[in-house]
Amino acid sequence: MTSTSTFLEGTDISINRLTIRRWLERHVHVRRRPMMDVVLPCTLNQHAAGAVFMGNHPHPYETSTIEKTLAHRREIDSLIPEGSDFTPIMTLYLTDHISPDEVVRGFKEGVWRAAKLYMANQQGQGGTTGSQHGVRDLRGRYPVFAAMEKHQIPLLGHFEAVEEKVDEFDREIRSVNRDLKPLMKAFPGLPIVFEHITDGRAAEFVAEANHNIQATVTCHHLMHNRNVLFWEGLNPLKWAKPVFKKEPHRRKVRKYVTSGHKRFGAGTDSAPHDEVAKCRLCRCAAGIFTALSAVEFYAMVFDEDNALPHLEAFLSENFVGLYGMKPSEKKMTLVRQPRLLPLKVGDVWVEGGGTSLPWELLAA
Ligand code: DOR
Ligand code: ZN
Repeated sequence: MTSTSTFLEGTDISINRLTIRRWLERHVHVRRRPMMDVVLPCTLNQHAAGAVFMGNHPHPYETSTIEKTLAHRREIDSLIPEGSDFTPIMTLYLTDHISPDEVVRGFKEGVWRAAKLYMANQQGQGGTTGSQHGVRDLRGRYPVFAAMEKHQIPLLGHFEAVEEKVDEFDREIRSVNRDLKPLMKAFPGLPIVFEHITDGRAAEFVAEANHNIQATVTCHHLMHNRNVLFWEGLNPLKWAKPVFKKEPHRRKVRKYVTSGHKRFGAGTDSAPHDEVAKCRLCRCAAGIFTALSAVEFYAMVFDEDNALPHLEAFLSENFVGLYGMKPSEKKMTLVRQPRLLPLKVGDVWVEGGGTSLPWELLAA
């Protein structure tokens, strides 16, 4: 492989084959069975060393207690082939109700390795799939955050303001100023992951903060700006939360990612919904299903930015220790050869379906 220094000098390079450590999927939704039966194998086939599972299932099945999280873990385990060394990483779905003691106990007993923060507004409306049972009273959860800080339990945050009057495209930055900054001030030692970051201002904040904070970035937010929602007619398949932003935001986030900033790592937020949920006239479900070819998408982005030497750190190394993982010693290989994507997996439309990607991921 061409060395990073050659790359940084801007030498014209051409990489056609790239063998790197197996990656860590830092944010994925696999739902429950039977949908899980078709979508979880997609993540497994992407040679991930492990994945962080988000449990925002329809109430009362969200992973908001030890018992419910263990039940979800059993479902996942039942689909992992015998002998696989794939590591499922479970997350607590934080509510207004769980006690600091249970949060700590679940962590110490290895039930979850992190807590996921979804927020709902005072009317109990959530800003994304399954967030209406999330936290309404962030201040009221400060005793939980204090316990998490003490025990170094990572907080994985969906930072978007969900009040109806907030402009859709400003939800993320509003939440940074209103929720995240006070939280960081109150808990300077709390490890935080800013999930699926999209706003260039938020990315700059994360990159420069004097705090143990990092961000996951999806492949869809690296590939598209908000035009894609409207191009050739309103497109529900591109409806995801946070919503795609203007091009300068996409570019700024992408710049941090492909320049090799260590605080940014891959988390696809691959979020399958069946066709009925995606295509209903009102209340289209938010979510884009990228699990089938996430690594190829990320590779395409880094390749376009002439940044392939930074791909391995982004996929497989940056802040994996936060989830109790080590960078995998096992390898996977990307080859520059066309990969045609199917339109659908089961009843789920595939991001990029029907098109051909320039890279294909193979085992080592
Ligand atoms: O687009 C999204 N889909 N964003 C989220 O935050 C949740 C996810 C889902 O679960 O469908
Ligand atoms: Zn998600």
